[in-house]
Amino acid sequence: MNLGVNVDHVATVRQARRAKLPSPVTAAIACEKAGAWGITAHLREDRRHINDADIRELVKVVKRLNMEMAVTEEMLDIACEIKPHSCCLVPEKRQELTTEGGLDVVSRQTYIESAVKRLHENGIIVSLFIDPVEEQIQAASDVGSDYIELHTGAYANAEGEAQQKELDRLREGAGFATSLGLKVNAGHGIDYENMAGILTIPHLHELNIGHSIVGRSIEVGIGQAVKEMCDLMKAYKL
Ligand code: PXP
Repeated sequence: MNLGVNVDHVATVRQARRAKLPSPVTAAIACEKAGAWGITAHLREDRRHINDADIRELVKVVKRLNMEMAVTEEMLDIACEIKPHSCCLVPEKRQELTTEGGLDVVSRQTYIESAVKRLHENGIIVSLFIDPVEEQIQAASDVGSDYIELHTGAYANAEGEAQQKELDRLREGAGFATSLGLKVNAGHGIDYENMAGILTIPHLHELNIGHSIVGRSIEVGIGQAVKEMCDLMKAYKL
């Protein structure tokens, strides 16, 4: 199973000050060096974290860029121009803090089918980010998607018995998708603690993880950053 690291929140820190740093591109290179198989970045319609320059630079420097995007003409035009390794189609609402709920493939089947076709014509692998719901999985297969990414957010947010139920839904969803010939990824809310349950889901190809890794990198990396600043200040003589 491969790890895709979502670097959106490196850009979130940069955008908090409208500054130049930290760079999601530099972070992505470090992720690859540390063993990440792929890099994921979500070019949101409001450009709240990753911007156009980031996505164009990422596609040039990383081995496999998975571009997360809403299913809109604007995003399809950008994807078909820059040609990332893969695109993960997600629902998008401007007010949300992060992607809430999976893509409703059933109700937008015709449009999503044309989007998948267009991406395929440009040599781009397609994944649909969906909840572990049979009709949505069936629709993902019907529109010709290569992968589904199962939304693990409900599992990540639940506790105890409710969490076990969410895990069962994910396991069943992964089995059903595989029986239809779909390849299965998973993502959203996966962290160092809830990984144990994720590892019990069959047929997984890739996990896409962002927030917990970016958060952890601050916790384990801030000491080094402070040390480097202290070292610079040692040059003070006045
Ligand atoms: N996969 C998809 C489709 C997402 O929208 C996100 C969040 O941007 C992730 C994975 C990563 O989620 P998290 O940041 O909670 O690890």
